[in-house]
Amino acid sequence: MSKQVLGFTKALSEIADALNSSLAAGEKLRLMIKVAARALGVRGCSLMLLDAQKKRLIHAASHGLSERYLRKGFLESEKSLSEILEGKAIHIPDVLNDPRIQFQELAEQEHISSILGVPVRIRGEVVGTLRIYNRMKRDFNSGEEGFLNTVANLVGVVLETGRIGDAGEQLLESETRVVAKPAPLASQLKPVAFAHPSEEEFAHLLDFYQIEWLYEPRSFELRWDGKGSEMFTPDFYLPVLDLYIEMTTMKPELAREKNRKVRRLRELYPGVNIKLLARRDYDRLIAKYGHGPLAGTKTRGVGRVFFSAAQIQRRVRQLAKEISKDYEGRHVVLVGVLRGVFCFMADLMRYLTVPADVDFMSISYYGVGRSKAVHVTKDLDLNLEGRHVLLVEDIVDTGMTLSFVLGYLKERNPASLAVCTLLDKRVRRLAEVKLAYVGFEIPDEFLVGYGLDYQEEYRNLPFIALLSEEKPGAEQDTGQSA
Ligand code: PRP
Repeated sequence: MSKQVLGFTKALSEIADALNSSLAAGEKLRLMIKVAARALGVRGCSLMLLDAQKKRLIHAASHGLSERYLRKGFLESEKSLSEILEGKAIHIPDVLNDPRIQFQELAEQEHISSILGVPVRIRGEVVGTLRIYNRMKRDFNSGEEGFLNTVANLVGVVLETGRIGDAGEQLLESETRVVAKPAPLASQLKPVAFAHPSEEEFAHLLDFYQIEWLYEPRSFELRWDGKGSEMFTPDFYLPVLDLYIEMTTMKPELAREKNRKVRRLRELYPGVNIKLLARRDYDRLIAKYGHGPLAGTKTRGVGRVFFSAAQIQRRVRQLAKEISKDYEGRHVVLVGVLRGVFCFMADLMRYLTVPADVDFMSISYYGVGRSKAVHVTKDLDLNLEGRHVLLVEDIVDTGMTLSFVLGYLKERNPASLAVCTLLDKRVRRLAEVKLAYVGFEIPDEFLVGYGLDYQEEYRNLPFIALLSEEKPGAEQDTGQSA
């Protein structure tokens, strides 16, 4: 038996052991990829899965590739991988001289000179590709291709089987390649088996705001000591925001351990953007949409004044001054998203010294009615084409409303588009959005007044205050004298 065949046999036996173990599916995949790369003597190996529209390939697991290379962006399937989509192996003996390679410069920096890719199938259907990357320019022989195909077949088995191992354990499944945008497409696919209802609720929320997500698409190796490895698989990845989200809503007692893992991941993979959503943060977030345990919290009116009427007016005047200076010589169109913004909008526009038109729009709310995805319920009346548009918001929280509205407004071809918000709750941001003008940055507190409501109440207060959860009869500081 040749040395190569012996190496392949040993590798397959190691893979068989992993398949038959109680490891989570994501860990099995990572191990298989690592073993395959070692047996083939190549620099790296990766598994990429197709998105729901079979247009893009998304990294699911890899070995030996740098974070920079992995985060290079999506591979457009038609461009470089049509052969794989057709179920053929793809040989690229010289990466730098092959037009199918989308990120040649990065491949060169990564010292990748040749690539072999084979399709990964589930019940005959191509769902992704398994690729190996070599430092030297060379073609791969039929033995190597055959071995990689066998590993790819086994990868397909892991993806298909999904729920293997310990009872109740949520494993990486073929459905992890679900891309929730556009929403109707996601609903055509089999639902992901979430480990906890809060994850499902969170996925619905992302679907509503048309934010693409992947469930447990990638495992990170946190420690490897020869005997075994410690892996960490964040719950969600939001590709458009390039953000991983780990939720500690399932078992609060694990929060400390998850915190440690997140800290370690940040140390080892400094380029990876990850947010830990603790149970309380999550409950507060979801309560905003009328869901979860905090949604029914009994409130007893308003509590401490956060910003007095005078403070607000002072800040609004300053903002208007800045805006007037920046827009000097231009005619601005102020666009507000109803309803919370009406107080701020009315004051802001009266302090402006540049000519300003005003228009309003409304959008649907998560969890209200039958709406599955955010949509415009009241459209703008003005034509924004070629106009200087300033989107005005009362508060930017997760940023999901704003990111949808900005996309909507961009399609109307304005000459310029900027955002002005009175309040910025940065700590809760999921979708990063550029804010040109910010009145006040605020902590994660529920604020009411000056347009902001709690179940439609308190919008008429001239100041902004904390919502109070005090017992009935307790004295309230309404701040009316502010
Ligand atoms: C508020 C605010 C923003 C949105 C921001 O509206 O007016 O539009 O929340 O939240 P986000 O950054 O998490 O998406 P709300 O839904 O409270 O409706 P309202 O304006 O009618 O009060």
